[in-house]
Amino acid sequence: MAPLPRGLFGLFGGSFIESIPMLVLGVESSCDETGLALYDTERGLLAHALHSQIAMHQEYGGVVPELASRDHIRRAIPLLQQTLADAQVQAADIDAIAYTQGPGLAGALLVGASVACGLGLALDKPVLGIHHLEGHLLSPLLASKPPRFPFIALLVSGGHTQLMRVDGVGRYELLGETLDDAAGEAFDKSAKLLGLGYPGGPAISRLAEFGDPAAYQLPRPMLHSKNLDFSFSGLKTAVLTVVKQHSANICEQDKANIARGFVDAIVDVLVAKCMTALKQTNLKRLVIAGGVGANAQLRAALNAAAAKRRYEVFYPELQFCTDNGAMIAFAGAMRLREEPGAARKEYGFGVRPRWPLDELRPPQAALPA
Ligand code: KG4
Ligand code: ZN
Repeated sequence: MAPLPRGLFGLFGGSFIESIPMLVLGVESSCDETGLALYDTERGLLAHALHSQIAMHQEYGGVVPELASRDHIRRAIPLLQQTLADAQVQAADIDAIAYTQGPGLAGALLVGASVACGLGLALDKPVLGIHHLEGHLLSPLLASKPPRFPFIALLVSGGHTQLMRVDGVGRYELLGETLDDAAGEAFDKSAKLLGLGYPGGPAISRLAEFGDPAAYQLPRPMLHSKNLDFSFSGLKTAVLTVVKQHSANICEQDKANIARGFVDAIVDVLVAKCMTALKQTNLKRLVIAGGVGANAQLRAALNAAAAKRRYEVFYPELQFCTDNGAMIAFAGAMRLREEPGAARKEYGFGVRPRWPLDELRPPQAALPA
C-alpha cells in the first residue's frame, strides 16, 4: 500500500490536538462506482476499496440507473469487509459513518444511505450525510502536499462544471458554472459521436494525442465573456457537424484530429476561466477536482499557465479524481472535526438526488458566535 496520507492533525495546525481521534467510514454510491473507505483523523486514510461499474454499463453506452442500484447492493458489503480487513480494524471500532446523501441517482444513493444507516443502527454509531461535490472539492486535501485555504476550485465532473472560491469546509462561494452541458458530459457526448466507448473522457483524451492540432479549430464558447460561466453544448454540436461532414468515410486519423480539436478547445476555455478567477479574487492557489481533473492535457495546460503567473495548482491523486469512498470519509472527518455533533443516531436515510452546493452550511462550531 502507498504511504499513508497524513491525518488532519498537522494539516490544520494544533487545534486538532484537543479533538477526540475518530475513525470515519465513508460510503459512496451516487452513480456508477461503489466506494468504501476508512479515514482515521490521526493516522490518515487507512484503507479504501472501489468497484467501478464501467464494464457493466459499457454495452448500453451510458449509465443505466436500475442496473447501477442493483450492482451497488451486490458490492457494498464485500467492499466494506475488504476495507475493514485492509485497515485491520473491526466494525465496532468505527466512530461515525459518512455517506453520500446527494446529488446523484436516487436509487443508487438509497443503497449507500441504507447501508450506512443500517450499519449505524446495528453498531449504535452516528451517521452523517455528505454532499458528493463537497467530497470532490476536499479530495485534493488528501494528497501528500495539500493546499491551504482559501483557494479557487474548478470542479469538473460528469454532471458539474463550477468555479468556486473556497474559504474553508462548507464555505463555498459559486463564481461561475456551466449554462448547459458539464465538461465531463461534453467529453462523453463528443466521444460517443466519434464512436468511442463509455466513459468517453479518457478515450477521447488518448485519441487526441495522435491528432493534428492544426486540422480543426473548434469554437471556444464564452472564452471572452466577462463572467466565469461556461457553455459546452455548442462545442459538442461543432463536433457533430465535422463528424457528419465525413459521413461514413471517417478514418482513424480524422477521428484523432477531431478529438484533438475538441480537447484543445475545452482545455483552452477551462484554463482561461481558472486564470480569470484567480486574477479577479487575487488568490494564488487553484484546486482541480472531479473526473475531468484526471485529464492529462488539462493538467499540462493548467500547470503551464499557472507557472507563468506564479500560481500554485493542486490536484487530487489520480485514483481520487473520479468517484471514490475516500473523499466521502475524508469530508465526513473534516466536518466532524469542527462539529462533532454533526453525525447523529438518526437513521431516516433521506437522500437528495438534487442538492445545490450553495445550500451547504459551514460546520456549526466554525460559525461566528
Ligand atoms: O467525478 P466523476 O467520476 O463523476 C461525477 O461525479 O460525475 O466524473 C466522471 C467524468 C466522466 O464524464 C468522464 O468521462 C470524465 O469524468 N473523465 C475524464 C477523464 N477521466 C474521467 N475526462 C477527461 N479526461 C479524463 N482522463
Ligand atoms: Zn463525482
